[in-house]
Amino acid sequence: MTNIINGKEFAASLRAKVKVYVDEITKKENVTPGLAVILVGEDPASQVYVRNKGKQTIEAGMNSYEHKLDASTSRETLLNLVKKLNADDNVHGILCQLPLPDHLNEEEVINSIDPKKDVDGFHISNVGLLNTGQKSMVPCTPLGCLLLLKDRLGSLSGKNAVIIGRSNIVGKPMASLLLKESCTVTIAHSRTKNIEELCSTADILVAAVGRPEMVNKNWVKEGAIVIDVGINRIKKTVDGEEKNVLVGDVNFAAVKEIAGGITPVPGGVGPMTIACLLANTVTSCYRSRGLSDPEF
Ligand code: GUN
Repeated sequence: MTNIINGKEFAASLRAKVKVYVDEITKKENVTPGLAVILVGEDPASQVYVRNKGKQTIEAGMNSYEHKLDASTSRETLLNLVKKLNADDNVHGILCQLPLPDHLNEEEVINSIDPKKDVDGFHISNVGLLNTGQKSMVPCTPLGCLLLLKDRLGSLSGKNAVIIGRSNIVGKPMASLLLKESCTVTIAHSRTKNIEELCSTADILVAAVGRPEMVNKNWVKEGAIVIDVGINRIKKTVDGEEKNVLVGDVNFAAVKEIAGGITPVPGGVGPMTIACLLANTVTSCYRSRGLSDPEF
């Protein structure tokens, strides 16, 4: 088996599973899962993400509701929109694309979303539920990483996991999920001492810091599974020509020589994030009808 973990392929099969669950609930309960995405302003990267989310939502047989608001949108207008979507029975998932313009308070907006419809898993209630091992909405990127890890390793019990990065979106929820799987978990960050040495003890290494190609071969134990969450656009000389390229937080060419499994960038964790968003939306729809959770 190749040691390259093909997230693109895995995400496609996850989306196919999502579609089966969508078709089933549409037929049985006469309800189509719906995802509402709010985009405030014109950040180019956010526009691309939102377009892809909408496209894949429709391809999975779900309803997509896009709300594009002007960058100067007031707090009241945005909170009123969330309130309307919270009350709308056709909407099972609500996602407000981050970052928001500076005059809007991200925490306030996230926490105004009905936790049951919070398919990002960022609401403080979902953070608390996840951290206490209860049923919650799980943030999409860490969920995608977990599915890839379980597919490779089966049981994760007793593994040493090191996560580089302590963000609320990836590092912290990833730690909760791996702890729930009975891993021994360490979070490393910019102040961690002897970070190379620490990382080289890991059976599972998750890099989520946003530092291009920071993780090198000497950071990785032979046979370790390396999950690269980084997406960094850098200028690089390829065949004597300077090009804009996408790289992860891991030096892929070097680390793939030693890792038991490694996700590439692009084509690794990235495609899993939207697939998990679709999965969360379907899960929310099933829960809204009192049905047991789909199994992904
Ligand atoms: N911006 C970048 N990633 C994300 C994400 O996963 N969710 C939301 N809402 N905004 C983002």
